[in-house]
Amino acid sequence: MSAQVISNKIDTSQSEIYGSITSKPIQLEHIDAPTTNRIPLPITEFARVLGGGIVPGSVVLVGGDPGIGKSTLMLQLATEVASQGLVVLYVSGEESTHQIKMRAVRLEDSYEDALSNLYLVTETNLHQIIEHIQTLEARLVIIDSIQTITSNDLDSGAGSVTQVRECTSQLTRISKTNDIAMFLVGHVTKEGAIAGPRVLEHTVDTVLYLEGDRHHAYRLLRGVKNRFGPTSEVGVFEMSGKGMLEVTNPSEAFLAERMARAPGSTITVTMEGTRPILVEVQALASTTAFGNPRRTPNGVDFNRLLLVTAVLARRMHMSLANQDVFVNIVGGLQIQEPAADLAIATAIASSVKDQPVPADMILLGEIGLSGELRASGHLSARLHEAAKLGFKRAIIPSSAAYTDDFPVEIDVTRARDLRDALKIVLPTQ
Ligand code: TYD
Ligand code: MG
Repeated sequence: MSAQVISNKIDTSQSEIYGSITSKPIQLEHIDAPTTNRIPLPITEFARVLGGGIVPGSVVLVGGDPGIGKSTLMLQLATEVASQGLVVLYVSGEESTHQIKMRAVRLEDSYEDALSNLYLVTETNLHQIIEHIQTLEARLVIIDSIQTITSNDLDSGAGSVTQVRECTSQLTRISKTNDIAMFLVGHVTKEGAIAGPRVLEHTVDTVLYLEGDRHHAYRLLRGVKNRFGPTSEVGVFEMSGKGMLEVTNPSEAFLAERMARAPGSTITVTMEGTRPILVEVQALASTTAFGNPRRTPNGVDFNRLLLVTAVLARRMHMSLANQDVFVNIVGGLQIQEPAADLAIATAIASSVKDQPVPADMILLGEIGLSGELRASGHLSARLHEAAKLGFKRAIIPSSAAYTDDFPVEIDVTRARDLRDALKIVLPTQ
């Protein structure tokens, strides 16, 4: 009896504190797995990054430098979805509807079918935008860009952290309650990314970055967060006169302009998500004309280049102290992976010695401080990609595991360290 009283007491006090409790824990086995009916997306390079089609009720942030092609890609997405008969609203805070129409005309593909379902509006007021979304019953909404939108409820200006956060959270709420897919464009701001896409990364479901060198045609759409699919997948596009074209065979594209048998050029295979891509590494060493020797990387990390040149100087006794060293990844790709070390080091050595590397050879391996080679993952996938493009030889670290699924077309040589590798690749040194 007394126990009863006590438990009653606890009950009342709890409900006084927490109010009426409405949520109820459910056993895992009784919860239905949601059947996400994704909106099909025929742009396969885009769908690959999303992990399939577009998830209704998801919020996707698309970041990138100004001028890289975000608006173009978003308009292509909009026309694709609109041509399937779904209502799409494209909100621009930066461009007039005429400007967007002009861009749409350039795209041509799927443009005709999209005419009646694609709505454009130039608007920066959040409450107006929400009203448009609701009146049109849009299934897909594109906000270009989130930094131009302002809510009346706040005093701060457009693009401030509080505005960007508030507008995103309001739009997210609309998206979730009405099952609307939303794509928010965010400019990466040069000034330390204040109020740029970074402040929103944790609030949205998916974060994609459009990368590339503005002076090159290739663009990479990279997934860095995805609640509905894989992360670190990339889609490869080429900016053309008719918008962003899909590059379904990136290895071929990145090697297209290669000059075989040129000193200072090597080929490696980099993993972008689960996808191996062949890239050409170019190096040029030239005598320093004035002051300290320079190390200029383009597409590889500066510290990585310093490490590689230091190992070449100390372990291989290569005289680089009076040499400027330039390293370039052809096509504007950025390589983060240490697996490219051997290709970078060999390209530099090849340039210093003015001796070309065999044209049918790929180089794989991370270089340690003692010059030792370390194995990197996905070796088999990398070798198969190289075989597909006709490469016949590969140098890999001797520490790499033995496996029988290497391609038979490729003659694989194992090297213990950089010295070993260079002896094979540049034999007359
Ligand atoms: P844009 O999509 O406006 O970039 P962002 O929204 O990221 O600032 O496009 C940038 C550049 O792309 C612009 O200089 C024009 C060029 N462009 C093409 O080369 N081909 C095309 O079909 C389109 C629409 C644009
Ligand atoms: Mg734009």
